Amino acid sequence: MESIQAVKGMNDILPGQIEWWQKVERIARQVLEDFGYREIRTPALEKLELFSRGIGESTDIVEKEMYVLEDSKGEKLALRPEATASVVRSFIQHKLHADPLMQKFYAIGPMFRHERPQKGRYRQFHQIDVEAFGIDDPMLDAEVMYMLRIFLERVGLTGVVLHINSLGCPECRKAYRKVLQDYLERYADALCPDCQRRRHTNPLRTFDCKVERCKELLEGAPMLLESICSECAEHFERVKSYLKDLDTPFVINPRMVRGLDYYMRTTFEVITDRLGAQNAVGGGGRYNGLVKDLGGPDLPGIGFAIGMERLILLLQQESEEQRRSPQVFVAALGEAARQRAFLLTQQLRNAGLETEMDYEGRSLKSQMRRADKLSARHVLILGEEELARGEIQLRDMMEKSQRNLPLETAAEVLKGICGGK
Ligand code: HAM
Repeated sequence: MESIQAVKGMNDILPGQIEWWQKVERIARQVLEDFGYREIRTPALEKLELFSRGIGESTDIVEKEMYVLEDSKGEKLALRPEATASVVRSFIQHKLHADPLMQKFYAIGPMFRHERPQKGRYRQFHQIDVEAFGIDDPMLDAEVMYMLRIFLERVGLTGVVLHINSLGCPECRKAYRKVLQDYLERYADALCPDCQRRRHTNPLRTFDCKVERCKELLEGAPMLLESICSECAEHFERVKSYLKDLDTPFVINPRMVRGLDYYMRTTFEVITDRLGAQNAVGGGGRYNGLVKDLGGPDLPGIGFAIGMERLILLLQQESEEQRRSPQVFVAALGEAARQRAFLLTQQLRNAGLETEMDYEGRSLKSQMRRADKLSARHVLILGEEELARGEIQLRDMMEKSQRNLPLETAAEVLKGICGGK
């Protein structure tokens, strides 16, 4: 008999893999709880209306990607495509707003979107989702992004960039809508059928379009960030200034509109260039109107979600690279220097550092090329002159800095820097 396979785009997480998940979840809980967030778990299945009202009728998620089903009583239900709408529903339903200790939440669990599966994009995926209610101050916007940065650092992710933008308030959006519609009208014939429709229903969503021609046309479109009102601009200025105070680097990305309609003012994404087209590891923003729109009090909200599959893929890639690359590469020029470098290489290995050297007496240029190819973090360079002075040059390939060390103690210094066994 033919065996039964899992549903396309939905993955098993097996022993050997699960350890990564456990580690990420453990660190998430630690960091989020230190910042005052408490865990909440909501059902995977909700009323369809929650998402169509919460996320927006004309978003890709609601239009195309939801798993919708009808129960035997004819009630329309949907598997949650994200957690924000569910957490807001629960917050309102249980009147958690009445309790000052119940304003900051995190949720970890599976989400469902019927997208075309590829690396980093699945139909069941998992999010670590964070939501904070009741505070409108830009200090919280900065703190939330800072917390995201701290979490990613603690799990050991490097090489990601924080993109930020402001989508203004409904007032500035109204004015911009007209400006964008006028722009889109000029190219109406060239837009894809979806964007033709979005042009009337929800022009901002044209920025989500994945069709090349539409993307090109939108390159020249006027930017919302340029036309936000003075209050929204002031809010954004303060967010940026707090981020700087918190030493949290960011880039401003006026094209980032996020795929969900509930956002206003601050929005952000953590972007990688190592996952092909799926470049967002996490994203979020402010949603001041959502609690009210879903029938609750008029309270502001802000949050983000991290895609766990994407985060874990990146962490695994990084640890693979680290495993394969030596910590130190020793380059030497001239026979005497080569002999001394040979000894030093063994000393470094004895000190517990993964070390490679060139045994073939090649030019310095080709030795450096090899060090680069191996992704060695540190390169030690010993020429005749350095040897005569009893020194060796140390280059930090990541920080692109260099300095000279006494040759005698080089192995010890390197051990101090790299932390040998
Ligand atoms: P989102 O940008 O739609 O935001 O999703 C957040 C993250 O979930 C993405 O950056 C990505 O890492 C991951 N993700 C999304 N779709 C997939 C997929 N098909 N496969 C794998 N990973 C995926 C939200 O969901 C908002 N609810 C975030 C938020 C919370 N905003 C405010 N509070």
